[in-house]
Amino acid sequence: MTTRTELAGQPQLAHVPGRAFGLYIHVPFCATRCGYCDFNTYTPAELGGANPDGWLAALRVELRLAAESVGSVPVQTVFVGGGTPTLLGGAGLAAVLGAVRDNFELAVDAEVTTEANPESTSPAMFATLREAGYTRISLGMQSAAPQVLAVLDRTHSPGRAPAAALEARAAGFDHVNIDLIYGTPGETDDDLRRSIDVAVGAGVDHVSAYSLIVEDGTALARRVRRGEIARPDDDVLAQRYELLDNRLSAAGMHWYEVSNWSRAGGECRHNLGYWEGGEWWGAGPGAHGFLGDTRWWNVKHPNAYAQALTENRLPVADFEELDARDRHVEEVMLRVRVRDGLPVPLLDADERARAERLCGEGLLLAQGEALVLTDRGRLLADAVVRDLLG
Ligand SMILES: C[S@@+](CC[C@H](N)C(=O)[O-])C[C@H]1O[C@@H](n2cnc3c(N)ncnc32)[C@H](O)[C@@H]1O
Ligand code: SF4
Repeated sequence: MTTRTELAGQPQLAHVPGRAFGLYIHVPFCATRCGYCDFNTYTPAELGGANPDGWLAALRVELRLAAESVGSVPVQTVFVGGGTPTLLGGAGLAAVLGAVRDNFELAVDAEVTTEANPESTSPAMFATLREAGYTRISLGMQSAAPQVLAVLDRTHSPGRAPAAALEARAAGFDHVNIDLIYGTPGETDDDLRRSIDVAVGAGVDHVSAYSLIVEDGTALARRVRRGEIARPDDDVLAQRYELLDNRLSAAGMHWYEVSNWSRAGGECRHNLGYWEGGEWWGAGPGAHGFLGDTRWWNVKHPNAYAQALTENRLPVADFEELDARDRHVEEVMLRVRVRDGLPVPLLDADERARAERLCGEGLLLAQGEALVLTDRGRLLADAVVRDLLG
């Protein structure tokens, strides 16, 4: 990998024709910070004068500069994430999509997702979003158990997330995702069963489920260090993953990536782009992008972000050029986690031999020209990647 110190100046950001192209837009605002979260997001006290209007003005400039770099490539997917995009309100999120359309052509069947925190949504907001052209809503529910929501510092009541999912569907959204976190200390198997049933009962066509990660520097990590909360246990996490997979499968949702389940046709095309070699521009403070062999990321604070764009320059903090080996490692890491599997022709002779051993150990399964994780392999996906790469 070659880093910026070796590559003077700015990254060369050009689209490679034939690759999928998406836009990620980062909204860096949250009303309060959840104790487990280390995403690039700011509460009002941390903003140092930055605000959503200034952010939107800067975003418009970044999107103009982005369109000048990549040219007239149709955008197949847009994903507005955060932070809490719904703090912008329906009109604010409509303006974000308007800014995309002012600068890019959206493919006719474009998937346009926004993340949404249940407590900052309403039927009127979902109607505005649908009208504006959003096609998919991703709700952070995390759990249906009040004591789990309390450990996670979530501010919504257990009933608000499924109610929001039903409201989104009533507003005409066919594609609604619910995010769950499992393995939170204090969560029982029954709590997780109920969370899954509540999500499925709200009629969503997609569930993402993540094991609770204790990120360094978070309030949760400090509480774990002080011994106030136990660290999530690996065996419990594995057992909860199996519970999730069995219950979601019984409800007609199938895994298509290790942490993602959907009904047929409900897969998130934007995220599939990340996993299957697509390109994307990441706009907004701290956002990462990937074009050609270049990965870059923006400055993190909304004030530094706005300052760069006021001067009409890209707010790039740093970038790296991936060489063939980096691209290969990344491809193996990402594609093995997807249900369509890792294409065997990508592997060299040594890797194929190791793949054969992993098949013998019941961790991978050869399906046509692809290697797919078995149920047990999904529990050990990281180890499978390490083994494959040698
Ligand atoms: C960064 S959040 C943004 C969406 C929205 N603000 C929310 O919280 O609902 C996206 C998702 O990442 C997951 N997440 C964030 N931090 C996590 C952690 N430390 N461990 C596991 N999952 C995490 C949560 O499921 C969350 O819904
Ligand atoms: S609301 Fe979402 S982005 Fe904001 S702090 Fe909580 S998990 Fe992080």
